[in-house]
Amino acid sequence: MAIDNIRLEVMQLLEKKIGTFIDKFLIPVDTVWQPTDFLPNSQNEDTFFEEVRELRELAKELPYDFWVVLVGDTITEEALPTYESWLMDVEGVNQHEGSTGNGWSKWVRYWTSEENRHGDTLNKYLYLSGRVNMIEVERTTQHLINDGFDIGTDRDPYKNFVYTSFQELATNISHSRVAKMAKQYSNKSLAKMCKIIAGDEMRHYNAYSEFVKQIFEVDPSQMMVAFSDMMRHKIVMPAVFLRESGNAIGTAFEEFSNAAQRLGVYTSQDYIDIMQRLIDKWEIDKLGGLTDEAEKARDYVMRLPARMQRISERLVIPEEEFEFKWVKPALVK
Ligand SMILES: [Fe+2]
Ligand SMILES: [Fe+2]
Repeated sequence: MAIDNIRLEVMQLLEKKIGTFIDKFLIPVDTVWQPTDFLPNSQNEDTFFEEVRELRELAKELPYDFWVVLVGDTITEEALPTYESWLMDVEGVNQHEGSTGNGWSKWVRYWTSEENRHGDTLNKYLYLSGRVNMIEVERTTQHLINDGFDIGTDRDPYKNFVYTSFQELATNISHSRVAKMAKQYSNKSLAKMCKIIAGDEMRHYNAYSEFVKQIFEVDPSQMMVAFSDMMRHKIVMPAVFLRESGNAIGTAFEEFSNAAQRLGVYTSQDYIDIMQRLIDKWEIDKLGGLTDEAEKARDYVMRLPARMQRISERLVIPEEEFEFKWVKPALVK
């Protein structure tokens, strides 16, 4: 898809504020948390083994679907190379400009460096827990990166920022719910890890949704059409191509998503709520001076949550747990 010049101009306009965005929404390396802050300290001979033993004991309390969801969430985070390379390719983002790339490429790198800590944290936790079949988790991760994704945004910055706004909020919700469940099982350390990750996702949501808000101020009609196109197409999850080793592309995604629905970690109701939150945040009802096409797009988006609500009430999620290679049912209650 060829991009119009206006989008590039808008991206250049926002690019002037990248420094402010980084200061406002991201945290400097030396002060932000690191995975090690939440994991047993392997340098400490006196405490390490005891801490690991405790971590493993507490892990035994967590139910089967919980592990499936935690594994799926971890793999989704671990496929970060896919997301970084995708965003680097968005129109207006240029890593070849000057010696360090343009402002947007800096944003993408800084966002990536924060995201990179999520998979690191969860992967180490899973490994130490002893409750999952790590080789299968690793194979799925490698497959997912091989398979890439197609989120229907093309290289359009407007569509991509709608996608990232949605997705950051979705991950905030799911990591927060996992944290809450872990706490219910008295697993305080896992709860802390997931809660701190959820906090990062919230900052990222605030950033991407702010970018969209500012685009609405300067190019409302095109931004509106892009938002509606994304909602019409539906926001596909980044792990939509998830598969277990030996299986066809995408075959594990639905069962992972069913497990998340059963647990209430991420549901079709959440999808609708996120959509409504974006509509409210961007004050879609108050947009003025729209073209006819954009007015139609607005009508469509404003009606969509209620329409999806009616459809989602008819959705039935299978009650039966699905047996993944990642988690051995015999090992887990
Ligand atoms: Fe993340
Ligand atoms: Fe994120």
